[in-house]
Amino acid sequence: MESTIKYINANKDKFLEELIELLKIPSVSADPAFKNDVLKTADFIADQLKKNGADNVEVCPTAGYPIVYGEKIIDKNLPTVLVYGHYDVQPADPLELWDSPAFEPVIKKTDIHPEGAIFARGACDDKGQMYMHLKAFEAMMESNELPCNVKFMIEGEEEVGSENLGHFIKANQEKLAADVILVSDTGILANDVPSITTGLRGLSYVEVEVTGPNRDLHSGLYGGCVANPINILAEMIASLTDENNHITIPGFYDNVEELSAEERAEMAKAPYSEEDYKAALDINAVHGEAGYSTPERGSIRPTLDVNGIWGGYTGEGAKTVIASKAFAKISMRLVPNQSPEEITEKFQKHFESIAPDSVKVLVKPHHGGEPAVTPIDSVGYQAASMAMETSFGIKPIPVRSGGSIPIVSLFEKVLGLKTVLMGFGLNSDAIHSPNEHYGLFNYYKGIETIPYFYKNFAELSK
Ligand code: BES
Ligand code: MN
Ligand code: MN
Repeated sequence: MESTIKYINANKDKFLEELIELLKIPSVSADPAFKNDVLKTADFIADQLKKNGADNVEVCPTAGYPIVYGEKIIDKNLPTVLVYGHYDVQPADPLELWDSPAFEPVIKKTDIHPEGAIFARGACDDKGQMYMHLKAFEAMMESNELPCNVKFMIEGEEEVGSENLGHFIKANQEKLAADVILVSDTGILANDVPSITTGLRGLSYVEVEVTGPNRDLHSGLYGGCVANPINILAEMIASLTDENNHITIPGFYDNVEELSAEERAEMAKAPYSEEDYKAALDINAVHGEAGYSTPERGSIRPTLDVNGIWGGYTGEGAKTVIASKAFAKISMRLVPNQSPEEITEKFQKHFESIAPDSVKVLVKPHHGGEPAVTPIDSVGYQAASMAMETSFGIKPIPVRSGGSIPIVSLFEKVLGLKTVLMGFGLNSDAIHSPNEHYGLFNYYKGIETIPYFYKNFAELSK
């Protein structure tokens, strides 16, 4: 990989300039106002793949945003790596909390990123991380050092549930035949503590609507006489967890995989400082399920969180009113072997059962996803571990993450392939938040690590 690494070192500025151009396009998949920009981003990726020497590059239409495909098959007898990533991003709101506009990338130094970080929506999740794969491919192609076959599948709907990608993989199993899936859409513990994600949580997401009287009422004339849906919703939500922060939905923990004491002891070896954790978030205390540490609460345990709650009057000044309706969006993060369909059903039944007669409730299920785990004795994990050990000079540790990438479990079910989650972001990169950024160290380290993964994977597969 000597020429490849040389090429990378000689082209760092070019790689950064291209990423800046990519980040300028506001590819927000959730908001139809950005439709043309999302489509433009797909074309940008396809053009780059073509320029870098990929064959059969296509912008594959779906019922939603297209999937960009491209491949380089050098020898049918060599293994094939299928690279997955997403070119869509989360909405940038609330815009006023950004120090610089979300789609005007700037490079600034931070305490954690003394070499500089690029600030923009999607810098880390996932444009910056996905683009590392295109640049690593370019470097291997230009240096004539591509050690195996590669296929790229870059989608534009990850942040809205990947529904069309699910259909796409079912319909294109032959085209997507490969030996492993490689994804950079997760993180490492710190720039001097490399890690590989071995688990992702699943997701069950619901919206609830509580209806009281048939119209908004004067809170003086009716207050005290009819149920206030906002008060009731608050009580119902509060009852979903008990004094130990256990979730009270009957059967919620039925299938939860309990880790052995040995596995928990192994996990506890990963460096973690509660003081640093609290300081980074400006909080005086952490909060969570009794009997588990903060790293455990955020990875191997299921959770329930309100993501949004609204109703009644929220404008300037006061309006004395009892609203007719109250709403909330609620997410539950799931762990192996919980099923999103089952949990959504249990939530719905329970939520309906705790509603007092004075209100009506409606539970609307949204997209969900299954949890996923990657075994550390797989060839893919070993190839990634050795690659990071080469590029960082430190052996990475396996870590389960709290986030979700729902398509990963479908990759296994439909394509029969394990996914290696070799991401390079940091928790402090503020993904989905204002001032999202990605370290230049992380961007370049990713580009450098990927070719070693290919080489190791090809050799270990012999
Ligand atoms: N890349 C993230 C998931 C992630 C981030 C996993 C960091 C592990 C570490 C992904 O783009 C994402 O945001 N997923 C969503 C789920 C989706 C259905 C909207 C999530 O986790 O909320
Ligand atoms: Mn992502
Ligand atoms: Mn995301």
